[in-house]
Amino acid sequence: MKKRIAVLPGDGIGREVMEGAVRILKAVADCFDHEFEFTEGLIGGAAIDAKGNPLPPETLEICRESDAILLGAVGGPKWSDVPTDIRPEKGLLGLRKEMGLFANLRPVTAYQQLVNASPLKREVIENVDLMIVRELTGGIYFGKSERRGENNDVAVDTLQYDVHEIERIVEKAFQLASVRRKKLTSVDKANVLESSRMWREIVDKVSVNYPDVQVEHMLVDSTAMKLIHQPGDFDVVVTENMFGDILSDEASMIAGSLGMLPSASLRSDSVGLYEPVHGSAPDIAGENKANPLAMILSAAMMLKYSFDLEKESRAVEAAVTEVLNDGYYTSDVGVSGKCIGTKEMIDKVMDKLN
Ligand code: NAI
Ligand code: MG
Repeated sequence: MKKRIAVLPGDGIGREVMEGAVRILKAVADCFDHEFEFTEGLIGGAAIDAKGNPLPPETLEICRESDAILLGAVGGPKWSDVPTDIRPEKGLLGLRKEMGLFANLRPVTAYQQLVNASPLKREVIENVDLMIVRELTGGIYFGKSERRGENNDVAVDTLQYDVHEIERIVEKAFQLASVRRKKLTSVDKANVLESSRMWREIVDKVSVNYPDVQVEHMLVDSTAMKLIHQPGDFDVVVTENMFGDILSDEASMIAGSLGMLPSASLRSDSVGLYEPVHGSAPDIAGENKANPLAMILSAAMMLKYSFDLEKESRAVEAAVTEVLNDGYYTSDVGVSGKCIGTKEMIDKVMDKLN
């Protein structure tokens, strides 16, 4: 299979962890007889330095011509004084929007070897394997915002969704649930918000096409509580943009370290953007300390969701699990074991793949 992959390392530890993803994908291509063509582009602070624009048109062009996009991370104190509209983070937001990536998938797995790294009790998080599906291009973050009143003393943000926007994210979540443990929790605030009442109606309507998926509606406040109390009860959780933003950060604590969490941003065709949940970690950039596993696991998601290469994706995940089983960790994971650097961790995963 031949695929074109856009590689956007970005800033800080982005480049260090991206090296891991590219090396692993090259090994996968060799082992499984595929052809992956990598094209590198600038984004974020690196693009501001070179082009004065966090999302240069050339980068967008590379992404549009690719089958999938890998992104490291953007941002850092070096660019804290640039005007808001050309901040590094604008590059990433612009890319998601321009590419129409409306579904953000964040799997959270409690790795057996890392349960002690989580602030939650072992018995609560053991066996957690859930996926938050967050709507990414609508809702209150994209609704009309303004200041009103004589003294600008009224501020307005608008939470708006249309049927199409909800249908497509709900459909995606049902598809995911139907190939996992067949349970879907739809999260809203239907006791207060009209948009949530419409969300519920649509979930019920779409559910008719997925009779083997068990559906439950849950209010966002009780979901926040249950994610800490009984996270093992969740399989796929689908929700609107802002609720998903908050719940996915909360759920990330189950895994113990940001350095372990991958993500995918998808649309209706197979194109997707794959990136670790963490940022550019300027405090450890260039020190060979970054955990490359979130980036490597993001590449595994790409193999599965954009290229339909399930076996290859599982091989990468298995390699990561085996390295953890051998007791190797990077310094962000606060458990005892053999602490190694970024490059060494990438080497360990490579050894398991070969
Ligand atoms: P951050 O995720 O970069 O770092 C938070 C803490 O976690 C730091 O102590 C860092 O050293 C550690 N950390 C993060 N990833 C790690 C890894 N792979 N291995 C080991 N340790 C890791 O978040 P922070 O510090 O709030 O933001 C730094 C910059 O990153 C800011 O400019 C922010 O805007 C940007 N950012 C970018 C994101 C993206 O590109 N998607 C997401 C979040 C923040
Ligand atoms: Mg957030």
